[in-house]
Parts: sequence; C-alpha cells; structure tokens
Amino acid sequence: MITEHSGIFHISTDAYSYLFKINAYGIPEHLHFGAPVQREDALALSCRPGLGWGCSILLDGENTASSLDTMMLEWSGSGRGDYRESPVELCGMPTDFRYEGFEILEGVAPMTCGLPQAHGAEETLVITLAQKNAKLQLYYTVYPTALVRRSVLTNTGEEPISVNKLMSFNLDLPGSFTMATFNGSWIAEMHRTDTVVAESKVVNESLTGSSSNRHNPGFMLFEADATETAGRVYGFNLVYSGNHYASAQRSHQGLTRVMQGINCSNFRKELQPGEAFETPEAVLCHSDEGFGGMSRNMHIFVNDHIVPVAWAHRPRPVLYNSWEGCVFDFNEHRLLDLANRAQDLGCELFVLDDGWFGARNNDKAGLGDYNVNKKKLPHGMEGLAHKIRKKGMDFGLWFEPESVNVDSDLYRAHPDWALTDEFPLVFGRNQLLLDLTKPEVRDYLVDSICPILDSAKISYVKWDMNRHSIALGEKAHDFVLGLYDVLRRIFGPRPGILLESCSSGGNRFDLGMMCFSPQVWTSDDTDPIERLDIQEGASYLYPQSTMGAHVSAAPHAQTLRNTPLATRGNVAFFGCLGYELDLKHLLPVEIKEVKQQIAFYKQYREVFQYGTFTRTNLGWQVTNGSTTLAGVFHRLVHAAPGYEQLRLTGLKKDARYRITSLAQALRVGQFGSLLKHVAPVNIDPNGQILRIADRHFTLPYGEDTLTASGAALMHGILLRPLFRGTGYDQNQRTHGDFGSDIYIIEEIAE
Ligand code: GLA
Repeated sequence: MITEHSGIFHISTDAYSYLFKINAYGIPEHLHFGAPVQREDALALSCRPGLGWGCSILLDGENTASSLDTMMLEWSGSGRGDYRESPVELCGMPTDFRYEGFEILEGVAPMTCGLPQAHGAEETLVITLAQKNAKLQLYYTVYPTALVRRSVLTNTGEEPISVNKLMSFNLDLPGSFTMATFNGSWIAEMHRTDTVVAESKVVNESLTGSSSNRHNPGFMLFEADATETAGRVYGFNLVYSGNHYASAQRSHQGLTRVMQGINCSNFRKELQPGEAFETPEAVLCHSDEGFGGMSRNMHIFVNDHIVPVAWAHRPRPVLYNSWEGCVFDFNEHRLLDLANRAQDLGCELFVLDDGWFGARNNDKAGLGDYNVNKKKLPHGMEGLAHKIRKKGMDFGLWFEPESVNVDSDLYRAHPDWALTDEFPLVFGRNQLLLDLTKPEVRDYLVDSICPILDSAKISYVKWDMNRHSIALGEKAHDFVLGLYDVLRRIFGPRPGILLESCSSGGNRFDLGMMCFSPQVWTSDDTDPIERLDIQEGASYLYPQSTMGAHVSAAPHAQTLRNTPLATRGNVAFFGCLGYELDLKHLLPVEIKEVKQQIAFYKQYREVFQYGTFTRTNLGWQVTNGSTTLAGVFHRLVHAAPGYEQLRLTGLKKDARYRITSLAQALRVGQFGSLLKHVAPVNIDPNGQILRIADRHFTLPYGEDTLTASGAALMHGILLRPLFRGTGYDQNQRTHGDFGSDIYIIEEIAE
C-alpha cells in the first residue's frame, strides 16, 4: 500500500516498510527501508543533523543543518554539496532536482524503451523532480516481498543533454554493512565474496557487455551479526542483462549509500529536447530474519513476478541434453537410440544441443546458418522431432542466435552484420557477435528461427551466447535492447515454449533474461562438488526453479573428479533436474539408480523446484507444506569422524515428523580389496569377477527412519555415524569422499 500524508510517503506491505519525506527544500529525504513500521515513526527514523557538521555546503545559509552531504537521500546529484557518489551525471552539468509532485498508479507502469520488467504489481508511486532543463521521475513499484525502483530522465529544455550516468536507484541506509557479491568465471560461477563496506567504495560491476559470470548483478548488504536465520540482510538485483554497476560506501556520518544501474563506463546517451531515458528496474528486498529470510523474499518475487506468467510455478520437465554425451558427433540413429534410453530412464524432454545446423561440426563453422544438416538428420528436424514425440517425450533445440562464425553462409553474405566497431576482428570461441542494434539482423534471426520452432513443434529452446560484446557506450546498451526485442518477438507469441537461457553456462544469469527464460543453465560445470558452491551462491538471490542442474559422467569434464552417482543426483535435485552424458555407457546398476533418482525427483518435484529454500549447517533444505527435504553433503572425508547434527529451520515446533533417509546403492567396485572383509572368498580387486560384480550388484545402504518433533529437528538431531574404518554395516553412512544423503521429513498426524 502507498500512502502520502504531509509530504511523507509510506510504502508498506507485510514484509517491509519504505518511508521518505519531501523536506523543506523540496528534496526527497529517505527515512526507512526495513521491517514494517508506522508513518508516525518518521521523525524517530529520520536524520536530525542539529547544527550539522563543519565545512559543509549549505542549501540555506541560515540553516547549518541544510547540507545534502549529511542527509539520507532518495536521490542526489552533483555540484550542490553532496560529495558522495551521485546517481546521475549529465556531462559536466550540475544537477539540482527538486520535488514537483507525485502520482499513484494502479499496477505496473509500463516501460516504453523495450527493457523487460516485473509483472503483477499492486501499485506504483511516481515522484517527479525537476530542474531547469530536465525532469526526473522516480518509480517505486510495490510487490509483496520486494520494492522495484527505476528512474526516468526527460530533457525538458531546448538543447540536447548528454547523460553519462543514470542509476536505477539511490538509497542511503544508516548503519554498517558488509557487501556480498557473487563472482567467478567460466565453470566457476557465483562464488560468494564478502567485503566490508567502509569509507572506501565497494563496487560490483560488469564491463563485458553482458551481466557476466565475473560479477553477477545481484548482491547483498548485511549487518555483521547476520546468520541464515537472524539479522538484517538486504538483497539487490537488476532486471538487466548488460553492463551493470553497483556501489556501496559508508559516509563519515555512518550512512551507507548504495546504488545500482547501467554501468556508466564508456556510456553516454544524447537526449534531444523532449527525449527521455529509462533505466532498468532494480529490485530491493529486506529481511530481519537473516539470509534465509531475504532469499525467501527474493525467491517469491522472482517466481511470482519475473518469470513469464505462462511458466510461473509450472513444474519443469526432467530433461536429457545431448551436449556432454555427443558434443558434435551424432546422427539421427544415435539420437534416437539416446532418446529410447532417456525415455526408459524417465526423462520427459529430449534436447538436441549444438551441431544440428549448417556446417557446424565443430565450433569453428556454421554459427548463424539455422538450416538443418541433412547429413546428420536426413528426415529433417520435423522427422526427428516427430519420432521423439512418438516415444512420449517433448523435444527441444539449441540455438546461439547472437553470434556468427566467419566460416558461415551468413557471414559470407553479410559481413557487415557482425559487430566489429570497424576495427580488425577479434574472436571469442571463434565467433563474432551479430550487431543486434540493426533491425535487419533482428529480422533475420526472427525469420530464420521461428519456422523451425513451428514446423518441428519445438517445446523447449536452449538460447546460448558464448562470446562477449566489444561494443561500448550507447551501442552496448542498444545491443541488449536488440536482444530483448528478438526474444520478445520469438517467444511472445509462443508462451508454451520453455526457454532456458545459457551463456557458456552462467555468464548471463540475470533477472533480465529470466523475464523471458524461466530457467537458466547455471554453469557448464556439472561436477556436484563444484555445484555446491555455484548453486549455493545462486540460491541467495535466485529460486531453485531457475537453475538448470544436470547429472553428468564422472570423472567430470571440468575437474577430473570422480563423484558418486548418488551425489550427482542429490545436488542436481535442488534445481531443474536433467541428465547430460552418453547413456549408452551407463552400467546396469547405474541405469537402476538413475531410474530411482528420476522417480524420486518426480515425486517431490514441487518441493525441490518451488519449496522454501534454506542453507542448513550441513547442506540445503526445501520445504513445501508438510514436506521437507534436506540434503547433507560432504567434500573430503576425515578418518574417525564424529557425530553430525542436522539442524532444520521453519518447521512447526509442536508437530511430529517422520524422517527417512533416501536409500542409496553402494557400488561394490569402490571397495576394491576391502571386499575380502565381507565376501566369503578372496576377490582380486583388479580381476574380472569384481568388474562384472560391480556392473550388476550393489551393497545395501540401510535406510534410517526416525520420528521427532519440529522443536527437536530445529534444535538439531544426530545423524547415524559415518564410516569410521571399523567395518561395514547398514547402520552407518558408508560413503567416502563426496558422499551425500537426502532426508525426507514428513509431518505425521499425532
Ligand atoms: C556452451 C554451453 C554448453 C553447450 C555448448 C555447445 O558452452 O554452455 O552447454 O551448449 O555451448 O556448443
């Protein structure tokens, strides 16, 4: 709800209050963003500078408290006494925006520049500020668990204005914070880094042309005592897929200024008289219930208001993807064989990845030519799709529309369509970007992709993007707008297609893409131990329903690490499950295990994909209604480990729960010569007998069943011991390195 009373604006939902006032100088002064409070708290929450601080620039010479530098501001500018970072820069021009008026609109205020935006809001508050040649509008769109802000600058003068910086929001918070950012590179995305915010500025930004795997646009600010379940945590994100910027800095007065928007490095936008520039939407979340509370609010927001309506809360299919199993080496026969196997395992969607079009037999050629390779697929895409659908699976296809290989018919016909900025060519994965700022390039993409989608009745698209932009300035932003235009034109009329965005894995894992793409390929790294960090990093700001998570072959292509199949499944369960390996090489014991994994996942899919997610002391937890699933994950084992206590959250204290561990298969081969302790004969650890036995037999891994109250589960229950070198029995958790367990916790009637 939005209310205004005597110049005090109060935005309130069950989750937060946001308060600001228009002061005597027409400056919007920030008062509060946090737990729900009352409008009458305005004075108690405001800065009262008294006689102010020395050496200040004053708005009013009679009032030593009138320095912008010591106030909490909704917005600031340059050259009027606030020496903190300004959210706006108009090429060498001072700015002094003062209050003109406000408007409260029902629902969302549609954007006009083509940027994607959140949907399904209750109300939007628009504050208008103005100075002699420009109007600035601050938008506050209210969602139950998040506030969305953006700004719009209009040239109201007679001369052009050069904008080189316009942030989506500016926020001044009292207190001291640490900034958590999510950083990495290819196959190592989303690693959390914490940096204390003090007087020197902390910056989180991308300059690669996309939101990047180096620095995800989402970040958190938290107080030093915040934990998973308690303490003050703010979450921020940007609905944008290009170069982003965010900063946080604490002032001498103990106010932390935070802002986020399009990166202004090399950016400049010329506004002609009457023209306006709109920033992307930024998302602001708060919780006093720790990281878990903040994630909860962010997840609800993304699931309900970012992901396309047609896919909101819709179960994601279990898919098989051909990439890691086949790379470029396939034909229709091999694909149909894989499809048979995938279907038998329980997969619901068969995805043909790279290599199906043009001369695309490696990554050096063919990109841009979306005509089906008839040597590999003699019956065309329609033929293949038809046969796969007949097996009872949906069919999906990979595209990489934004790029072109020089060795392609497209480049040969239109070399000027490549984005080169007229410099000698520089390549990334042997490819150039197409210049999506050109309407004819966008038309080509729409016209070459849509017929395949329609004729082959494609129900899923993996939209890849494997090189960075070299475009700078306005063009970098226009490229992103061009991309959104293409996505809107292709998928707007085809809401039934599940779009999974990918950029060498998680190189464009952002809310802008998620407005079109309900799920994103989280990382090319499918090693489950690496995924513990990657998926956990992503989990702070993005719900499980958005994370593509696949089981692949071990040793892993990215780490050479060997991990148990059970752990590969157990980690991937906490996202949108898929399989990505050559199914022909699965052993009979593995086929059985994968079937069980998929059946289990389907049974609890709603809980895994949409349950409330928390990070526990031993792994992850998801809860939906009366069902909780907890994953306990191990990295390297230690000899003679002690008891482990599993602590859950969010249960009903007085309710009783049944806790059952998910049965696993213990491969006999992993025990080598140790088998002599349990087998009646002395088996050669390198011999044929053990090899055959390992293909067909497993040792039982006893199920654990307990009952406990919610109070006990939240206090922490003791799990059965791990292997301690004292022998094998079914009453322990017999796993070596990288073992894991899943516990199913169901509320039971008394
Ligand atoms: C990228 C993607 C992979 C795969 C390949 C195909 O690397 O991240 O998942 O689709 O391209 O070339």
